[in-house]
Amino acid sequence: MAEKERINPMMRRPIVQEDIVHFLRTRQKQTAGELGRVASEAREKGVPIIPHETAVFLEFFLKQIKPKNVLEIGAAIGFSSSLMANCLPENSHVTTIDRYDMMIAAAKKTYERLNLQEKVTLLEGEAVDILSTLPSDTYDFVFMDSAKSKYIVFLPDILRIMKRGAVLMVDDIFQAGDVLKDIQDIKRNQRAIHRGLNQFFDAVIEHPQLTSTILPLGDGVILITKDDDEIILPKI
Ligand SMILES: C[S@@+](CC[C@H](N)C(=O)[O-])C[C@H]1O[C@@H](n2cnc3c(N)ncnc32)[C@H](O)[C@@H]1O
Repeated sequence: MAEKERINPMMRRPIVQEDIVHFLRTRQKQTAGELGRVASEAREKGVPIIPHETAVFLEFFLKQIKPKNVLEIGAAIGFSSSLMANCLPENSHVTTIDRYDMMIAAAKKTYERLNLQEKVTLLEGEAVDILSTLPSDTYDFVFMDSAKSKYIVFLPDILRIMKRGAVLMVDDIFQAGDVLKDIQDIKRNQRAIHRGLNQFFDAVIEHPQLTSTILPLGDGVILITKDDDEIILPKI
């Protein structure tokens, strides 16, 4: 079994037909140049980076909205942060967070390799601690791709640091469909993720000050816009 599948067993259970996933991954324009090589090496080694269909969407979307300040939670080896940095206007900046030493070292190498040290800032440490230190009303786009059970914990600070009109994109929201099952049918070691993701859905999907849309890319993504200056979240 590939290492990435061991880390994320959901990768073996696509949420759309397998032949469609194959088409999305092979027929859409492949990531070019050195960044393409970073992606291929990561996938060969089983490093959990965003799947190709999500990368294609991310690039397309960022080229449309042209965010000035981007924040990512979950850098890993720096693939998605580099992809974002590469497709942003000259004066834009990407800040990314990771807490895992091995990933931090690998991400730094990737930024050097792609000559992106000026365009990407890597903040090292636990996201919940770092998020609380970031200034309010700062980011135009936030990409959350880290511990799934913590998305609901990060949400208040993320909404605080997003500008009004900014977009939050959250990766891996379906756990191959397990999030939709009764929690009693979920393995005990997966229940925190199940609970956290369902709390996250309850907090955002019908929120009157947020607009969201769910896309079946990879293991599912949700995009959320902040429609007001201050978002009042329900108590969990
Ligand atoms: C799926 S990988 C990110 C992949 C990356 N976005 C890409 O596509 O190139 C998730 C990363 O989030 C980091 N992470 C998970 N929980 C975190 C937390 N609470 N604080 C900081 N980093 C976290 C992990 O160390 C891991 O490197």
